[in-house]
Amino acid sequence: MSEKIDSLLQEDRRFPPSADFTANSIASPDLYERAAEDRLAFWADQARELLHWHTPFTQTLDWNNPPFARWFADGTLNVAYNCLDRHVIAGNGDRVAIHWEGEPGDTRTITYAQLTEEVKKAANALEALGIRHGDRVAIYLPMIPEAAVAMLACARIGAVHSVVFGGFSAESLRSRIEDAQAKLVITADGGWRKGKVFPLKDAVDAAVANDASHPATTVEHVLVVKRGDNDVEWVDGRDLWWHDVVAGASENHEAKPFEAENPLYILYTSGTTGKPKGILHTSGGYLTQCAFTHKYVFDLHPETDVFWCTADVGWVTGHSYVVYGPLANGATQLMYEGTPDTPHPGRWWELIEKYGVTILYTAPTAIRAFMKTGREYPQKFDLSSLRVLGSVGEPINPEAWIWYRDIIGGGKTPVVDTWWQTETGAIMVSALPGITSTKPGSTQVPIPGISVDVLDETGKRVGNGNGGLLVSTAPWPSMLRGIWGDPERFIETYWEKFDFEGSPNRRMYLAGDGARLDADGELWVLGRVDDVMNVSGHRLSTMEIESALVSHPIVAEAAVVGATDDTTGQAVVAFVILRAKQAEAQTAEEAEAILKVHVAEQIGAIARPKKIYIVTELPKTRSGKIMRRLLRDVAEGREVGDTTTLADTQVMQVITDKLK
Ligand code: WTA
Repeated sequence: MSEKIDSLLQEDRRFPPSADFTANSIASPDLYERAAEDRLAFWADQARELLHWHTPFTQTLDWNNPPFARWFADGTLNVAYNCLDRHVIAGNGDRVAIHWEGEPGDTRTITYAQLTEEVKKAANALEALGIRHGDRVAIYLPMIPEAAVAMLACARIGAVHSVVFGGFSAESLRSRIEDAQAKLVITADGGWRKGKVFPLKDAVDAAVANDASHPATTVEHVLVVKRGDNDVEWVDGRDLWWHDVVAGASENHEAKPFEAENPLYILYTSGTTGKPKGILHTSGGYLTQCAFTHKYVFDLHPETDVFWCTADVGWVTGHSYVVYGPLANGATQLMYEGTPDTPHPGRWWELIEKYGVTILYTAPTAIRAFMKTGREYPQKFDLSSLRVLGSVGEPINPEAWIWYRDIIGGGKTPVVDTWWQTETGAIMVSALPGITSTKPGSTQVPIPGISVDVLDETGKRVGNGNGGLLVSTAPWPSMLRGIWGDPERFIETYWEKFDFEGSPNRRMYLAGDGARLDADGELWVLGRVDDVMNVSGHRLSTMEIESALVSHPIVAEAAVVGATDDTTGQAVVAFVILRAKQAEAQTAEEAEAILKVHVAEQIGAIARPKKIYIVTELPKTRSGKIMRRLLRDVAEGREVGDTTTLADTQVMQVITDKLK
């Protein structure tokens, strides 16, 4: 890996912005100067310029009790009002907020006035169901406009949403509902994916069912959007159709102000243990940084641009760059329900041509998949409307970066590689188009007002040309405010490693990523340094998949690694020891098939291992820790590395012999 990185860092291609682009760009270099001069004043200006405050704040940052930050704490605002009403009041009610396209080709065009009305009705409907300020609402929906409406309706009444990606299983949904003690679940009777309707309501039914080990669900109602026309089971009194409850609700709803630190949402993400963490975001600071980054990183001209972020609302990218950033900025965007290759491999490019998309924000996995299917598909369509391309979620290799710029961007669009996390809430490191000379493969520089660094194990800055651990060195507006219900884990996971000279006010945020600074001092993010995998830009925990595997009666022990994969970045590979009796009852192929299905049922299809090796031993150190590095060697087809710290140095030989 490090050799590969050294040669990557030799990258000397630079793409300065064209004079034309710079002349019309929103950002100017003085953004960096203003932020460097007075970081807090800079963010206070952004918060005032970009948002509407019911009560203006007087205090920018309260960092007296680190790592619990409070931004703009004495100000009040309503997040939904900022995303909706104020645009209508400003005379932009007729502007399209969402061009929506379903996978089968059905469409909806929703203006800001219509979206505002829908959210007001939904807010009234939620209140009628007894949802109050601070209550948690789980949202388990396909990519349909109701997903945004449901999130904004929660925000409008001060309830906290917890969106669960529709690809997660009933088990995953249940654990998230239980952890947050949600009172309401909003779901659909199905959604379209790969030409078929996938069920969602079934999973909700299973997730909220009471049984011996789950005696009392907190869920009082299940609100169901009609989308898939699937037959669904119905529990009278508990289950309600969205179209009955929302359509009949009043369209008058006043957006009441809430404190800037009012919780906005919980979003679960994988950590290094078996249990996902409920990352908590609040209102004023979060919305400020979403709006700021969406405007400047994508050079947004809201009157003319058509923005398209391809992420699902189930991930943080969908929260910040499908819902909150674009709508706070009054942008017009495209939302697409389905997969990129249905019904044909050129579907995305067809949509870009059809809607005149100007800004595209997607993940390297998608770009690499398109490279494989070939340039002839994008080349069938007119992509000349595109003027900015963004990448997020995993490192983008320079080859994919160049392909993206040349084939999708016609060799002229700036490509911005944006680094951030569920925890950071919004983009932290990225080029600004119109200002930065872009560099393939590098995420480049912190955005104005953000400070990051790369430190060695002892907390020293590594300096240019070296690698280490990526940290954020100062609190930022959209930072996570905690892990739901677990302040200890919040501190341990992110804030304990670098506590400078015992001074808690200088605590730094540990991102969990390895990174290098190149000779220009620009950042290259290399990937996770903990037991978190990144598969197709989705975070998965090795421990979570191991727990799923050992929960099956045929499994005695399991170890999971993320193996490098050409398309998906990493792929899930598992090594499993079967229980002695069962090992005789089925072949390795049978066991592999059973366990793949089991993992998909326990967590979701995204976690399904690409390969499961049935083995008789696992490599462990004398203290019993599994040496995943050695298993990764096997999974990636390499010669096995240094085995001298193994308790039994023969183990790897046994494993590799068996797999031959
Ligand atoms: C990785 C997604 C390299 C990283 C927004 C991080 C990246 C994790 C990049 C967060 C990038 C995200 N280059 N790696 N531009 N962006 N990552 O929470 O490992 O789903 O820690 O947030 O994705 O994933 P998450």
